[in-house]
Amino acid sequence: MKAIILAGGRGTRLRPLTYDTPKGLVPMVTRPFVEYQIDLLRAHGIHQIVFSLNYMAQEFSRRLQDGTRWGVSMEYVVEKAPLGTAGAMKNCEARLDGERALVLNGDVLTDTDLGRLLAEHEERGSDVTITTVAVDDPAAYGLVLADSTGLVTGFLEKPGWDEAAVNTINAGIYVIEPWIIADLPQGREVSFEREVIPALLARGAAVGAHASRGYWLDIGTLRNYLKAHMDILERRIDVVIPGRKAGCGVWSGKNAAVHRTARVTGPVVMGHNVAVQPRAEVGPRVVLGHGCHVGEGAHVSDSVFHDGVQVGRGAKVRRCIIAAAARIGDACCLDSMVVASASVVGAGTRVDPELSAPVAG
Ligand code: GDD
Ligand code: MG
Repeated sequence: MKAIILAGGRGTRLRPLTYDTPKGLVPMVTRPFVEYQIDLLRAHGIHQIVFSLNYMAQEFSRRLQDGTRWGVSMEYVVEKAPLGTAGAMKNCEARLDGERALVLNGDVLTDTDLGRLLAEHEERGSDVTITTVAVDDPAAYGLVLADSTGLVTGFLEKPGWDEAAVNTINAGIYVIEPWIIADLPQGREVSFEREVIPALLARGAAVGAHASRGYWLDIGTLRNYLKAHMDILERRIDVVIPGRKAGCGVWSGKNAAVHRTARVTGPVVMGHNVAVQPRAEVGPRVVLGHGCHVGEGAHVSDSVFHDGVQVGRGAKVRRCIIAAAARIGDACCLDSMVVASASVVGAGTRVDPELSAPVAG
């Protein structure tokens, strides 16, 4: 069976991180995000992955190639213009060889048991099975209503907060029979959530709900992107953390140069060639991408740095996302802020959530 990963969206809610990187490839604890989905699929014996792409499509094939490095095969299907989630599935039809498919939104971090999902789909003989999870903010997602036997009775995409009667939402992980994909309209934009599921329910198709018990998070907002890092660091989801474990919740790549007077308090993940200068304090809950440099006496906590970030002397950085090659000047004080790649924050800049809207907080 093949998996389709829907990864064609523009990732607008993750800007500025997605100006130069598609959402599926943004660094997540120093790995391109999609690697966590590849790991999950492979762990459940799915080795054939079809990427459905539009925005910055060529970046995927350039970075992932044919998938050999991960022990899977990868195909890339690129839309000339975005076709919507169901239009994207239809566009991949020829690659599915008339078989059942597992479809995954390309921005969900999860350890959900795909084996149980597939078994439930099979036992019920469903046309489509929708994985569901319970969340605190259901109005931001697709609401799934199901009866006591697990049959979906209603679906409401992004309801108003006053319509969010349950907290069970669509996790963006489906099993779909080939005849459902065959029936999808071709050559136009089609939303699986707004158009296809309601139509299937109206015509009495067997749509099952599979309640996931695992970890689940849509990383597609800055707040959730930061939260995903914190959850991985705190081991709330069991995924592979890159680097060598150098004791007490600290993972380190090659050539880390941490000065003996600096303090690194786990959980912290450092990429290759990271330098931490005298009396600097890093952690807890920090990711430093490859080639990051933390200046003398600087303090960094609860933050994510992409590759090549430089932090000046005595700077304080808390709850921030700092994109690649950005430079934070000496004595800056930044709280709950996102810094775009290659930008420069002048020495002495102070930003805290009381003074500005906390983008990441
Ligand atoms: N190929 C392709 N073409 N992919 C697309 C397109 C498209 O036109 N539009 C969106 N995608 C991809 C995105 O890249 C993303 O990985 C996935 O489809 C879902 O799109 P989002 O834009 O992230 O949707 P959402 O998070 O607002 O809502 C969806 O996910 C929720 C769970 O996270 C819906 O499926 C909700 O019902 C669901 O609850
Ligand atoms: Mg999303």
